[in-house]
Amino acid sequence: MKLSMKMKCLLAVGVLSVVLAGCNRSSTEMDHSQMDHSSMQSNKTKDSEIPVRSTVIPTILSGREINLTAMASNQEIAPGVTTPVWTFNNMVPGPQIRVKQGDTVKVNLKNELPVPVSIHWHGYPVPNNMDGIPGVTQNAVKPGETYTYEFKATVPGTYWYHSHQDSVNQVDRGLYGTLVVEGPNDDKVDRDYTLVLDEWVSNGTGMSGMDMSSDMSGMDHSQMNMDSSASNHSNAPMEHDMNMYDVFTINGKSGSLIEPLTVKEGDKVRLRLINAGYLPHRIHLHGHEFKVVATDGQPINNPGILKDSIVSIGPGERYDLEFTANNPGQWLIEDHSASPFASGMRAVIAYEGSSASADISNAMEELPVVDLAIYGQTGQNTFNLNQKFDHEYTMELNTTTKNDATLYTINGKSSPETDPLHVKKGDTVKVRLKNKSPDVDHPMHLHGHFFQVLSKNGKSFTGSPVMKDTLNIKPGEEYIVAFKADNPGNWMFHCHELHHASAGMVTELKYSDYQSNFTADPSAGNKPE
Ligand code: C2O
Ligand code: CU
Repeated sequence: MKLSMKMKCLLAVGVLSVVLAGCNRSSTEMDHSQMDHSSMQSNKTKDSEIPVRSTVIPTILSGREINLTAMASNQEIAPGVTTPVWTFNNMVPGPQIRVKQGDTVKVNLKNELPVPVSIHWHGYPVPNNMDGIPGVTQNAVKPGETYTYEFKATVPGTYWYHSHQDSVNQVDRGLYGTLVVEGPNDDKVDRDYTLVLDEWVSNGTGMSGMDMSSDMSGMDHSQMNMDSSASNHSNAPMEHDMNMYDVFTINGKSGSLIEPLTVKEGDKVRLRLINAGYLPHRIHLHGHEFKVVATDGQPINNPGILKDSIVSIGPGERYDLEFTANNPGQWLIEDHSASPFASGMRAVIAYEGSSASADISNAMEELPVVDLAIYGQTGQNTFNLNQKFDHEYTMELNTTTKNDATLYTINGKSSPETDPLHVKKGDTVKVRLKNKSPDVDHPMHLHGHFFQVLSKNGKSFTGSPVMKDTLNIKPGEEYIVAFKADNPGNWMFHCHELHHASAGMVTELKYSDYQSNFTADPSAGNKPE
């Protein structure tokens, strides 16, 4: 009895990472969207025909150790476009680590890349020494070395992991995966799909600039001539041209390579959207009413029903949607961002047995954007604007030029000159975040803590308490957030448009009563941004 269960799991893990979680579930609960690279050539492959992958995929049952190997590979990201990638376990995204609240997560990272790496658990309130920051909490893991991360899954929700060594480059090349922690009170759903959003450069490494002439054979050129009104590449001095990202992907695949998300009529479906890229995306689910049930893994209190609304998701942010499959056919979930390449970021929700053809993109249509400031119902607010805080900080985010290079600043300074936020354990902290850059978003991410978003542009949030670890701030916007200093350590607070982080937009949250026992090895080549 026990053995056959195990056998089933072994067979299953080869196929789909999420099955990891599903060994004790019925097959209808499996997530078919995940990382099925073995069937890349044929997106019509039936589940039963998907060949078993040889890659060792970690199991996630409590007490089991997970092995992640950082390694180079190649991946077909768009039809006819194969690019060199850096991966965990030979796939981008890397395997999904799926555990239950209360489990211990133990991950052995083995580095088979020619450069040092690390793993940061984005959004997860791990103990500081498990945060994966080279030079701050550990030395980068050198080629050939291994490093073990271990922490308790204390909070449920949708998270992700990625290298934090030279992260602007390593995350760009694909060194990331997803972490889902199931809670005892999670809604029971029939399908649970994780969709990781990213952007790539079709001509190679992501560092080689814009060359539209090469390697575009399979791409959809139909919208290439439209007048792109994308906000972030006008005349400002930029050292990175975001236009070079010409392949938009879901789970590492673009366009027709994206596996349809199968559903049955009546299914309750959860979609976990994770933005692992450097551009914001505007996701529209066609044909269904839905709810936003969580932001950055934290539940929304009594979320209202939405339809034909855009979920705008900035770099590093996560949004969990839930809908009931009550409209048989084939429906798109697609990016409405104003980029000629957004059409690659489009998946089909396919009802089993439906022969309908997919509905038509309306990506050019203006739709309302879900406004978290008024969404859901007031609950027990952790903080309010009028209370007294132990510390009040302001972070003015800006762009400047120095010796012809673009720098990104916090209160006029670039890392490492930025001033840290100082706290002690137990303090309450209020932070005013203002984006003064003329034309770029700054998705600000605080490590190790969740903060509550209290106001936007001077107007308080009146719906559900909104807890986040990453907040996308558009040009001119000002937010006030608050958090409790409840996780001692030295924590990064930075922009998750990682080009901005590597060009200065990084500071630290430092506990004066925390004594780290880490000393950096100067020969480790630590490079946290
Ligand atoms: Cu997603 Cu400092 O990281
Ligand atoms: Cu930024």
